[in-house]
Amino acid sequence: MNRMTIDFGIDLGTTNSSVAVLRDTGVEVINNQDGSVLTPSAVWYNKNGSLRVGAEAKARFVDDPDNAATEFKLRMGEPARKEFKRVGKTMLPEELSAEVLKSLKSDVHVGLGEDLRAAVITVPAAFDEPQCSATTRAARLAGLEVSPLLQEPVAAAMAYGFQSSISRAFWLVFDFGGGTFDAAVIQVRDGLIQVVNHAGDNFLGGKNIDWDIVDKLLVPKLAAERTLPDFDRRNVKWRAAFGKLKNAAEKAKIAVSRTRKPTLIEIDYLCNNADGDPIDFTSEVNPNEIQRLIDPWTTQAVSLCKRALSEKGLSGHDLEKIILVGGSSLFPWLQEKIREEIGSAIDHSIDPLTVVARGAAIFAGTQKLDTATKATKAAGFTIMLEYEPVGSDTNPTIGGRVFHPKVESFNGFTIEVSEERSKWRSGVHRLTEIGTFLTEILAEKGRRNEYVIRLMDPQGTVLQCTPGGFTYTVGMVITSPPLPHSIGIAQANNKLDLLLRKGQGLPAKTPAVKHKCAVALRKGEPASKGNTIRIPFVEGEHESKADRNRLIGYLEIRPDDPRVKRDIPYGSDVEIVVEIDTSRVIRVKAYVPVLDEEFDDLFKSHYEPKSPQSLADEFREEHERLTSCLVKAADLEVTKALQEVERLEQAQIVDVVDRQVRAAQSDADARGEAEKKLLDMRAAVDYIEDILELPQSIEAAQQQLMNTREIVTQYGTSREKEYFRIMERDLSVAIQHDAIEVIRAKQDELWSLGSVIVQRQPWFWIEYLEYLKSRKEAYSDAALAKRLLAQSAAAVQSNDIEALKAVIRQLIGLLPQDEQSEAQERGRFAGTTIRH
Ligand SMILES: Nc1ncnc2c1ncn2[C@@H]1O[C@H](COP(=O)(O)OP(=O)(O)OP(=O)(O)O)[C@@H](O)[C@H]1O
Ligand SMILES: [Mg+2]
Repeated sequence: MNRMTIDFGIDLGTTNSSVAVLRDTGVEVINNQDGSVLTPSAVWYNKNGSLRVGAEAKARFVDDPDNAATEFKLRMGEPARKEFKRVGKTMLPEELSAEVLKSLKSDVHVGLGEDLRAAVITVPAAFDEPQCSATTRAARLAGLEVSPLLQEPVAAAMAYGFQSSISRAFWLVFDFGGGTFDAAVIQVRDGLIQVVNHAGDNFLGGKNIDWDIVDKLLVPKLAAERTLPDFDRRNVKWRAAFGKLKNAAEKAKIAVSRTRKPTLIEIDYLCNNADGDPIDFTSEVNPNEIQRLIDPWTTQAVSLCKRALSEKGLSGHDLEKIILVGGSSLFPWLQEKIREEIGSAIDHSIDPLTVVARGAAIFAGTQKLDTATKATKAAGFTIMLEYEPVGSDTNPTIGGRVFHPKVESFNGFTIEVSEERSKWRSGVHRLTEIGTFLTEILAEKGRRNEYVIRLMDPQGTVLQCTPGGFTYTVGMVITSPPLPHSIGIAQANNKLDLLLRKGQGLPAKTPAVKHKCAVALRKGEPASKGNTIRIPFVEGEHESKADRNRLIGYLEIRPDDPRVKRDIPYGSDVEIVVEIDTSRVIRVKAYVPVLDEEFDDLFKSHYEPKSPQSLADEFREEHERLTSCLVKAADLEVTKALQEVERLEQAQIVDVVDRQVRAAQSDADARGEAEKKLLDMRAAVDYIEDILELPQSIEAAQQQLMNTREIVTQYGTSREKEYFRIMERDLSVAIQHDAIEVIRAKQDELWSLGSVIVQRQPWFWIEYLEYLKSRKEAYSDAALAKRLLAQSAAAVQSNDIEALKAVIRQLIGLLPQDEQSEAQERGRFAGTTIRH
């Protein structure tokens, strides 16, 4: 079949994957070889060394974990490889995902006889850039040449939008799957779907609940009945036993969730005891226990929803409905909690386990394939069509133009459009002399309409033409998908220079941003930390503390790059432009004026999990910080801080992070999740600390206000004086509202204004030079430093401030790494990126 649009959508899930296609009968989810629409995302090497994907692999993970892998989606983009002992092979998470995709591809082949080469693949909205690029690489490995990525909640909204005729509403998509949680606030308006806001957690899903059942219910029961020394899931010896327990826990969880009745776990052979005798395990799991265990997880999910709503000034009452997506959203207690705490109607009328794949197929129907345009270059009669493959209109107008290399006039030629299923016909339309035509078509809702074009010459002979038809679907169209996290550059002073803001429509491109290099690059010398320009890119929303965001990669200029034709002095400009496409592939272009060279291949997507030791150290630090906050909040009776502490306790954050960090000590797979959870905990502690430090922050900002006032009054221009007055007013409003982030931002702005003014004053540079002279012994190249100091004296003599500044920058580059930041601060160079 010659497809004009992609039409296939794949939900590549943590637990289950599925593939759907948009057809003239509606959306169809394709069965796999087991006759199921869900293919467990599991890979196993069997005894003959053949690779298996799906239910069999998931089952074998339990008793043959050395040769099977599951839940690899959570580790996409990470460098840790899974080892398959039997075949002596290691595989990256993206290679494992590629196997799942290949399996879905083969199901399409069996079911529809088509070779799948293009499909829309969904990813959690909370996925970071490295995880998105890993997903794209998985698609290529599986032979999918075209694979736009779509955010899972958007896909779900499209599936609901496909059958809804509502013209204006807000929806909340609540997607609680096997490994990830996404909440997206969607606005539906006149056939357009737009994501208004999003919140999510890549490590919050059914799997966490399964492990809780194992750790908090089953293992204590087992320990009470049997003696199993060091029975711990981190101990490799017990891996198979824990695999069985987790599998049983998941089954029991689903049974209890469905029936709300107690269920029995029976494992005939769990493992051998200390004496080498086989033991079995039986235990009853009751609804109260499950309800208690899911509570902290559902509290986290609901609070993310509330945040996504309140950030946009919305509440549950503004929602027409909450759309439930993902297997874990089926818990009856969760649904009750959502109703109670958010308060809106709930809709899960489209199967929560396949709705994402269905929506992806609908979106795929809006994505034109390149082959559609290539066809127009074929010989014979070709038609260039002007139309959108999806729209809210059931009666859209389609235009086109017919071409033929030998036909000069199309007088007398006619065209007719018809639809196969509905038997609708447009009637015969005459072409204009140059071959153009315009016709309205009639489309039915809830399926893909497939139209055939009949081209006839003046004698009424039907002519072969390319394309011979087109498709149109009545459905909601997504306006540009939103960027789920802000992207910025982490600066040397740990501030974030925001380049692209969360929510911005994709594709997006930044204006050029000037970055001042914090190190000097010496051509020809070996690449080292001090001799490589490395500009870190991060994703996240923490503007005042860049290290609270996730590192996604670097822009790196190395001294051995052949394009580096000369040294790049300290403080040189690098002009950066960031582009990001709808699949969230980032492209960074950098122009280096001193080299007069443009680079467009310097961005390296990067993710390296932290070492177990540093995770443990960081957790200890955060825990201590939280404890001291708690003491302080209680002492000072700061209600807001105490409320926040209570929220953390309710969601059992410390306990969750503690367990995850401990798991990471022996399990490389757990590190990514531990790091993410630790980052969340750190942000929560920061927030409490901020509340407690509010009085000091106000005092510091007021002090800065006084300093800058002095500088502005003495040396400022009238525009600077006006600007100062505005900032003074903004600061006072922020203080009235306890808006700590704004107070800090205003303090920084005041500092920057003062810096700009003093940097214009010759005395400032002369004083700065005095300081640099006092560092004589510290310079790495004493001879060069001496020469530079002599040049500086000459610059002072001739009153050439620009020359003096240039010398000063070079001198800073000669200081040892650890002194450079102090020198920058003194020079008020602390921010390293300056906007145009
Ligand atoms: N009736 C049920 N009640 C509670 N949980 C359920 C139920 N049915 C399935 N689950 C859980 O739902 C999860 C699987 O859901 P789903 O297939 O939507 O996830 P996924 O798409 O693979 O994951 P993700 O979207 O996080 O990548 C599993 O953890 C499973 O145990
Ligand atoms: Mg899912």
